[in-house]
Amino acid sequence: MYAIEVDKVTKIYGKGETAVTAISDATFQVNPGELVAILGPSGSGKTTLLTAIGLINEPTHGKVIIDGATVADEGWVRGLDLKRLRREKLGFIFQHHNLIPFLSAIENVMIALEINHLTSSEAKSRATELLKSLNLGHRLNNYPTALSGGEAQRVAIARALANKPKVILADEPTAALDTENGKNVMSLLKSLAVENNSAILVVTHDHRMVEGFDRIFDVRDGKIVGEQNSGN
Ligand SMILES: Nc1ncnc2c1ncn2[C@@H]1O[C@H](COP(=O)(O)OP(=O)(O)O)[C@@H](O)[C@H]1O
Ligand SMILES: [Mg+2]
Repeated sequence: MYAIEVDKVTKIYGKGETAVTAISDATFQVNPGELVAILGPSGSGKTTLLTAIGLINEPTHGKVIIDGATVADEGWVRGLDLKRLRREKLGFIFQHHNLIPFLSAIENVMIALEINHLTSSEAKSRATELLKSLNLGHRLNNYPTALSGGEAQRVAIARALANKPKVILADEPTAALDTENGKNVMSLLKSLAVENNSAILVVTHDHRMVEGFDRIFDVRDGKIVGEQNSGN
């Protein structure tokens, strides 16, 4: 079973003369544990595609199947608990870390676990372990404003991976970092995803950040125009 299946997904914003087709007929599959990147310039439809897969932005046409569950088929499938599916199956990482400013690093990770019904002591030990594995053992009790950009993004990765989601979706996760920190964050993200057998879909405009990915799709003007295989 695929982790992600996207079949002719199209997203049209607006109606009539002002309608914008942001994504057109996107079709691909991602296996569990596979690292896939969507590479394209600003405005090419990357965020639209990612949020359509991520149960945030309703596709106008086409099908989205996440971990075997059909979530969209010409619009959202009726009767689904989208919030719950998002929480249980998906981990999100954004360009800006989106950490909760009044919670410490460890609390930002714990909250994701507690929402999924871990007790606070279970959440604490899992969050500690994860943050340590991301070299943040000395930052557990720091607030987001006290963290560097790379540290904050690593906390955001810990939070996204906390529940071992089947699918990790990352929107320009390294765009706010310098090249070296960006590459470090990306390699940690990749190794954790592989360890958990999570599928990972990263969208970016920066080809330097997708080294070592299994597959890379090029997107232009809302269309997937090509696929590069890693060859390793
Ligand atoms: N909410 C929206 N309403 C109308 N148009 C939008 C909206 N969001 C994005 N767009 C348009 O869709 C196209 C793709 O945008 P986006 O998915 O954000 O691209 P990217 O993430 O590659 O920069 C752009 O032309 C953008 O202006
Ligand atoms: Mg974008």
